[in-house]
Amino acid sequence: MVSALLPFEGPADLSRIEAPVTLKAYLICAFAACGGLFFGYDTGWINGVLGMPYFITLYTGYSYDYDRKQPIGIDPVNFGLPSSTKSLMTSILSCGTFFGALIAGDIADFIGRRLTIIIGCLIFCVGCVLQIASTNQTVLFVFGRLIAGLGVGFISTVIILYMSEIAPRKVRGALVSAYQFCITVGILLANCVVYSTQDRNDTGSYRIPIGVQFLWALILGTGLFILPESPRYHVMKGQLQSAAKSLAYVRGQPIESEYIKDELAEIVANHEYEMQVVPQTSYIGSWVACFHGSLRKGNSNIRRIILGCGLQMWQQLTGINFIFYFGTTFFQQLGTISNPFFISLVTTLVNVLSTPISFVAVEYLGRRFLLIYGAMGMIIMQYIVAIVGVTAGRIDANDPAAVRGMIACICINIFFFATTWGPTGWVVIGECFPLPIRSRGVGISTACNWFWNCIIAVVAPYMVGNSKGSANLGPKIFFIWGSLCIFSMLFAYFLVPEMKGLTLEQIDKMMEEVSPRKSKKWMPKTTYVAELARRDAEKSRQQWRDVHAATNTAGGLESGMMGGGYQEANEMGAMDPYGHGTTHGVHGGGGGYGNSMGRDPYESPNTVRY
Ligand code: BGC
Repeated sequence: MVSALLPFEGPADLSRIEAPVTLKAYLICAFAACGGLFFGYDTGWINGVLGMPYFITLYTGYSYDYDRKQPIGIDPVNFGLPSSTKSLMTSILSCGTFFGALIAGDIADFIGRRLTIIIGCLIFCVGCVLQIASTNQTVLFVFGRLIAGLGVGFISTVIILYMSEIAPRKVRGALVSAYQFCITVGILLANCVVYSTQDRNDTGSYRIPIGVQFLWALILGTGLFILPESPRYHVMKGQLQSAAKSLAYVRGQPIESEYIKDELAEIVANHEYEMQVVPQTSYIGSWVACFHGSLRKGNSNIRRIILGCGLQMWQQLTGINFIFYFGTTFFQQLGTISNPFFISLVTTLVNVLSTPISFVAVEYLGRRFLLIYGAMGMIIMQYIVAIVGVTAGRIDANDPAAVRGMIACICINIFFFATTWGPTGWVVIGECFPLPIRSRGVGISTACNWFWNCIIAVVAPYMVGNSKGSANLGPKIFFIWGSLCIFSMLFAYFLVPEMKGLTLEQIDKMMEEVSPRKSKKWMPKTTYVAELARRDAEKSRQQWRDVHAATNTAGGLESGMMGGGYQEANEMGAMDPYGHGTTHGVHGGGGGYGNSMGRDPYESPNTVRY
């Protein structure tokens, strides 16, 4: 029935538009996830370094007795960097990452995802060199952090893009969550390195934590030399042969495989479709296009930008970084705790150990479920912390049991974040943009993450601090984070669609057809190839021939046997309205639909015969 409608050869069968998942696909994405180490480590080390005696003496001229572990000639309370210096040194990184994330998208479209990440690693290394060379020179140190931030901005944006574009749909969420896992490991490693060098009486105290980062750059940069470019980038550039080759590589299939042909055809058709919908204009015009469309239409570009930026903003406003940036000081203020640093380490560990749960949860329970229920969990925990903090846990109540209870709730709150909003924020921004604006969309959303990250880094100390001009909120700040989580939950409920188990191309279709609240039940009914066929049969036929020519030629080049039988088949196909005369005509057919398009990520493959 369906085949009769399609006057050309292509994947009308939904089960055929992606190859089975191979170990190789897992390994490539798992490797790319290492980019998260930069993010986590770089945000993690600065707080420890700013509190190191050697670093403080270097930038203030104070003296410190390393044997007795106390400052000389100054009250320990006042021994530290001025707030303005601390604030500048901390937040300048987010400033660099903000701009890095914004421009990375354009560069990734221009020179490719892979090369942009490699350049990001190089820029990052230059920033590290400047920081290491900056002994006692605030300007150079700050400039170094700005440059390193630029590199982190490149990496944090383009890794998400790259991973989402190469990961198989069934495990895309899980693999992008691995990126979040690497962020958490980065934070933990930074804490450990800083802990081990903090008492050194030389520049090694801060140079070692900075220098360790070269290792991440080396691993990621070298690895990406070997890994292939995203096939979707090649499609965008009209390089079908290269697209076929890299798709075959990341799927671990021979280039002549029907899976590769079908998936490539679907990517090409989707791109074609998007290009018809989004008007192509000048450079400025293409930026403006990101904000184009109606607010009422779920698939308009502006709605997707709101989705990406909103998710990143609300992820930051859950208040998680208040715990990671200022946890130590906050726990100190609670009194009754003998080792606040240890508690901070515990919170970081809870973060690392909880995140892997999301690998499975994001694929089984789905993005929407995790965001809505994760926010609910955080609302409850944060309100408990705040309520206990203003009653039994008050500093003058001196009740260690109440304080321990607060710490337990903070850990459970971290658990909720680490299994839900932490990874899912990144998963969704990798999935929600159509190819023509994907790199910019991911860039703008990531920049939004860093923008709010920076705001929290600057504002939070004044909210809880007890110095003059500070609000001295203490544990009451958790009323604010808890209330903000209510907005995070509402945002997820009204605006985040369910994307699990769909290809990036099917997500486009789903956003076009249903509202976020109905998205969970949406099933793909057709493919872009089929859609385009209806719109423009002749053009699609040519396009599909191009894909076959590309896969056949690229396959021939790889195996050293050019043309021959393949070309012959193509020529035959040119005479045949249904393709090139081989046995695999229009794929699918009535029976193939029901079980092939299920949203269960682990459904069994369809058995369509060719
Ligand atoms: C957030 C970071 C945060 C980290 C904690 C990430 O998803 O974007 O700001 O520090 O999670 O694990």
